[in-house]
Amino acid sequence: MFNRFYRLKWMFAQWACSCVWCPGFSRSWSRWKGIFASWILSPLLIAITAGQSSAQTATMSDQEIESKVQQLLARMTLAEKLGQLQQVEGTWIGNVRPEQIELARKDLLGSVLFVHGAANTIELQHVAMTESKLKIPILFAFDVIHGYRTIFPVPLGDAASWDPGVVERADSIAASEASAAGVRWTFAPMVDIARDPRWGRIVEGSGEDPFLGAAMAAAAVRGFQGTNIGCPGKILACAKHFAAYGAAEGGRDYNNSEVSERTLREVYFPPFKSAVDAGVGSFMSAFEDLDGVPCTANSFLLKDVLRDEWHFRGIVVSDWNAVNELISHGVAANGKDAAGLALNAGVDVDMVSRLYSQYGEQLVADGNVSADTIDQSVARVLRAKYKLGLFDRPYADEAIEKATLLSPENRAAARELAARTFVLLKNDHNTLPLNRTLKSIAVIGPLADDAQSLIGPWSGDGRAADAVTLLAGIRAKAPRAKIAYAKGCDVSGDSRAGFKLAIKAARKSDFTILAVGESAEMSGEATSRSSIDLPGQQLALIQAIHALGKPYAIVLMNGRPLSIDWIATSSPAILETWFAGTEAGNAIADTLFGDADPCGKLPVTFPRCAGQAPIYYDHKNTGRPPGSGKDFSGYSDIPWTPLYPFGYGLSYSQFKLSNLQLSAARIPRDGTMGVGVDVENVGARAGDEVVQLYIHDLVASVTRPVDALIGFECVSLQPGESRHVDFVLGPQELGFYNQAMRFVVEPGKFDVMVGDNSQNGLKSSFEVTP
Ligand code: NOJ
Repeated sequence: MFNRFYRLKWMFAQWACSCVWCPGFSRSWSRWKGIFASWILSPLLIAITAGQSSAQTATMSDQEIESKVQQLLARMTLAEKLGQLQQVEGTWIGNVRPEQIELARKDLLGSVLFVHGAANTIELQHVAMTESKLKIPILFAFDVIHGYRTIFPVPLGDAASWDPGVVERADSIAASEASAAGVRWTFAPMVDIARDPRWGRIVEGSGEDPFLGAAMAAAAVRGFQGTNIGCPGKILACAKHFAAYGAAEGGRDYNNSEVSERTLREVYFPPFKSAVDAGVGSFMSAFEDLDGVPCTANSFLLKDVLRDEWHFRGIVVSDWNAVNELISHGVAANGKDAAGLALNAGVDVDMVSRLYSQYGEQLVADGNVSADTIDQSVARVLRAKYKLGLFDRPYADEAIEKATLLSPENRAAARELAARTFVLLKNDHNTLPLNRTLKSIAVIGPLADDAQSLIGPWSGDGRAADAVTLLAGIRAKAPRAKIAYAKGCDVSGDSRAGFKLAIKAARKSDFTILAVGESAEMSGEATSRSSIDLPGQQLALIQAIHALGKPYAIVLMNGRPLSIDWIATSSPAILETWFAGTEAGNAIADTLFGDADPCGKLPVTFPRCAGQAPIYYDHKNTGRPPGSGKDFSGYSDIPWTPLYPFGYGLSYSQFKLSNLQLSAARIPRDGTMGVGVDVENVGARAGDEVVQLYIHDLVASVTRPVDALIGFECVSLQPGESRHVDFVLGPQELGFYNQAMRFVVEPGKFDVMVGDNSQNGLKSSFEVTP
């Protein structure tokens, strides 16, 4: 019965948001009006009261929230305050544990991890809202990384779209599904720059580049949180893992990172700063030891930079059990020390180690942690709950959940967006797109019918059973063609027993599609690999099919750059599809048959082999620049160059850049420079090109990268159509941190390149005058 009242509040808040705050929401209003209509006969008076109250939440001023937070704080005991800083885990499948019911009843549970689904969250929330003294709603957290139930491409794939709109839309849908299921806090986006493909978590971020990463970080925050996080369908985002987690030595997950302050500021910080500027509501401290100080106890990161320099006011949560792990790091002798270190460094919420609630009172009594530190952390949690509108609308609604999850619109968006993330790495003699008149197609490979891998390593509440495999997608796309399927081999292992059937299928078919790569569990947390070769017998399978001399294309599915030297040289066509989510099979089929143009570009360098890692395009020139031979920085056994550079990707069409123009030959340090270029579709098909702008500061007081991305724009063009693209560069783009770590623009010459990847483009130069 309590639920009907809150449903009314929810609907009125939706209305208030769509009218007042979130214009984008009006489009989804039609989806909700059916639900609304079913409740229209409810008592008018209750409805009006509820509506007013909810609209208030959506528009509550910071001052009003502040006064409510302070009033609440004044009524709380220290133990209850520590309860707000405690995050306890539910079961993996989303159920509530008896421990949580007890804690909620005693006002000792601020947030919960993993409990998801309207029914589960309502069960626990009901205890907090009706059986506790303070009636503070619980904040339900979950890793909604690339979709909740409708799964979108993995973040590395999303970044390959080079289109922040793709990320924003995917995360906005993910937020609407998650919130319908009661989840109001996601631990995403993961904005760690990653330059080592051995590191399994490279799949969770936007790749190697700080500028692209910053654009994607802001887009994700907008998607999850919207313009007003109090609107229904919006959830609290979390920029993680602060900081330099992706710099793990040897690519080994959780390993230390040794990163200079300059590299932190130039490479690892920009996506985090961008998330702060976009209004992200929370941060997660990283697991690792950064330059001798574990991030969970690192006040330089969490206080000096995050709070004092960037003025971040949201919540900082530890990573899983990371407060307790300060003991293993060797900076805390016991749980009490660990809790004290993390609290004093600025970690507000303790994810699952339970040490704050265990030792917080003693730490305050001993004077090791001040009461004010605790109050500030609690205030951040309460503020977030008010901003989310949780006090007003604490409950999810099962009817809304049912109407939202995996809706036809969400599936359609997943299909459309997935196709925008694919990167065409090779297409000799226009092997792709496929001809619709093909009479027979062989679909071969261990990933051709693997639904589980398609939904990737962090699949929220996504289900393999909902995912469309490549085989199913091809069958649906080419209903009249004879489709022969053979797995050929497993992703890993030594057996070639399936080769015979696969060869037979390919031999009798007009065309073969080979789906190879990694399985999803080979990517993600704690999945570092020393080799990035195609695992198992997959290369041998490709070589056996290749030997038939018949046409075929490779469809790659993977969460990291793979070393694919042989296929890059020998195979006629390669489409990189990452782990593309629930609609992967349909989206890949759309692309293979030319209903969608592959327009993605690599957000990360593809090395020739793991021995080149870490590898990235914006390296320094060195005193003996990269090359081969004695006096060059290279390898004696392989070229130093990558297999595919950052920013690379083909299209079914062709594009030409011309007429590169700069607005001036010289600008003062505080001036701006216009860079313009024409881009024309000179091919026969409509398509998209990503125009990329790079600069090189030739001489400076500290060494500068040989190339740095500072602008990009995705342009859709019909055949024969051309467009002019303009960029504006100012001090932000031209500056860097000098030896005193001050951000400066120094006079001197700058090279400019506008291209279709980091190694190819039109060049010019200009000068910055003193
Ligand atoms: C550990 C991971 O490092 C982090 O990214 C994730 O959010 C937490 N576990 C919670 O699942």
